[in-house]
Amino acid sequence: MKAAQASTTAQRARRGEQLALWRSAEREPIGAAAVLLPGFAAALADSIPALLAPILSAAPLRHMLTPGGQRMSVAMSNCGAVGWVSDRSGYRYSPIDPDSGRPWPAMPGSLQGLAQRAARAAGFAEFFPDACLINYYAPGTRLSLHQDRNERDLTAPVVSVSLGLPATFLFGGERRRDPTRRIPLSHGDVVVWGGAQRLAFHGVAALRAGEHPATGCCRINLTFRHAL
Ligand code: SIN
Ligand code: FE2
Repeated sequence: MKAAQASTTAQRARRGEQLALWRSAEREPIGAAAVLLPGFAAALADSIPALLAPILSAAPLRHMLTPGGQRMSVAMSNCGAVGWVSDRSGYRYSPIDPDSGRPWPAMPGSLQGLAQRAARAAGFAEFFPDACLINYYAPGTRLSLHQDRNERDLTAPVVSVSLGLPATFLFGGERRRDPTRRIPLSHGDVVVWGGAQRLAFHGVAALRAGEHPATGCCRINLTFRHAL
């Protein structure tokens, strides 16, 4: 019974994704190798917070320190074989949650599948995410421009899933001073970037206060990467 229910959910998710692609203007290039897939995760999005609850109870959200000793305003956790961590000794991936001393919770198969299908829809056929960073934005929280460059294999893309309150994603070039595009993101939107734009600087503008039925007063972002 459980298995039957799970496959129905997966089928529904896939149908929703196909619809999102067909309706497409729904595949908006935001650069040569970066694409916004509006609503691609819509069929699963409402159920993701419940999926994250046991993960966040085993590996609670925390404000990591930058190598310079600043407390990051985005609260973070991870699931998957490895998780992204930051502290005074630098940025890196670790199989162990430094707060608990235990491995990170496993990445749910439904999330891994979603990330793989989004990567494929964006033109990256082979994507095997082993890390899912969970970012939690409270109102006022922003993420300054940065590159995702701690992954060993930079041929794999980054897949980013937005949940809850809308946000403005900033997507720039390979140099910090390059101009940035401002891309509005809502619940269920997915952004994928890789290839020639894998090292594009990106960030998130300060989150505006609001209320969302799926996440309450916040925004959650999941970024999937092949880290090791
Ligand atoms: C990130 O760059 O890690 C997150 C991007 C986002 O929250 O949209
Ligand atoms: Fe990033």
